[in-house]
Amino acid sequence: MIKLTDKEFKEMHTFVREKYGINLENKRVLIEGRLNSTLQAKDCRTFSDYILLLRRDTSGEEITTFLNKITTNLTFFMREPKHFEYLREKILPEQEKTNTRKTYRIWSAGCSLGAEAYTTLMTLHDYFGARKSLWRTPVLATDISQSVLSGAKEATYKADLLKDIPPAWRTRYFKPVGEKKEEYQVAPLICREVEFKVLNLMDDFHFPYHFNLIFCRNVMIYFDQETRKRLVNKYYEQLEPGGYLFIGHSETIPRDATQFQFIQPAVYRKPPR
Ligand SMILES: C[S@@+](CC[C@H](N)C(=O)[O-])C[C@H]1O[C@@H](n2cnc3c(N)ncnc32)[C@H](O)[C@@H]1O
Repeated sequence: MIKLTDKEFKEMHTFVREKYGINLENKRVLIEGRLNSTLQAKDCRTFSDYILLLRRDTSGEEITTFLNKITTNLTFFMREPKHFEYLREKILPEQEKTNTRKTYRIWSAGCSLGAEAYTTLMTLHDYFGARKSLWRTPVLATDISQSVLSGAKEATYKADLLKDIPPAWRTRYFKPVGEKKEEYQVAPLICREVEFKVLNLMDDFHFPYHFNLIFCRNVMIYFDQETRKRLVNKYYEQLEPGGYLFIGHSETIPRDATQFQFIQPAVYRKPPR
């Protein structure tokens, strides 16, 4: 078993917080236990060697492997369904009345394998039905990891990721693939409105347009309080007045740090004009 020294833990903690906003304070035992096999696989004899590997990695792949080890990097279709219910029951009826441009712009930040972005578009198609053709609903889906984004673009998933999808949607929005039909591919109708891009949320991002809805679910759990505050304020700037921010149900936004209105757990709104 390779030991993590105090100095190495401090260095790792500082590097990962500064570069990725991720707080490792309580993860020392977990890091030592779960990363030993990674160190061996990467031919690192010490944690210092491994930290060097993380520092030199510009692709985001090493940090993703690292995150996957110390967190549950989980995603699936229709995860946290209350958000999709809120979208269809509250937001979309209001949009139909007020949004004369008929463009509804969405960002899935920390999108992992894309299930969140695709579930959102399925919800929109299901809600609008034939009226969907009157609407532009572009979805930007971003992550630091190039490899999850490649998977997201392929849009092919094992059946268990679809377990919470209504049977009618499985038929309408997926095509079974493989000889035993053990995998499902998202239909082109859904995929064509998603653009996937690499983006580290710690970077100083700015988009030339505003979003109507931002998902940042189960991403900020990794971040320290200061990083969360900064990010939430950046989301505020990137939203249209009246736009929404959805966060994970196990996450919180420090109330003193934001101008967002709290609507219900995990749902925040930028006040309308
Ligand atoms: C647990 S997954 C959540 C996926 C999806 N939002 C959901 O709730 O199902 C977290 C994702 O956040 C990404 N992530 C972590 N830190 C990030 C950062 N600094 N910038 C961008 N993405 C990040 C990870 O690569 C991972 O794919």
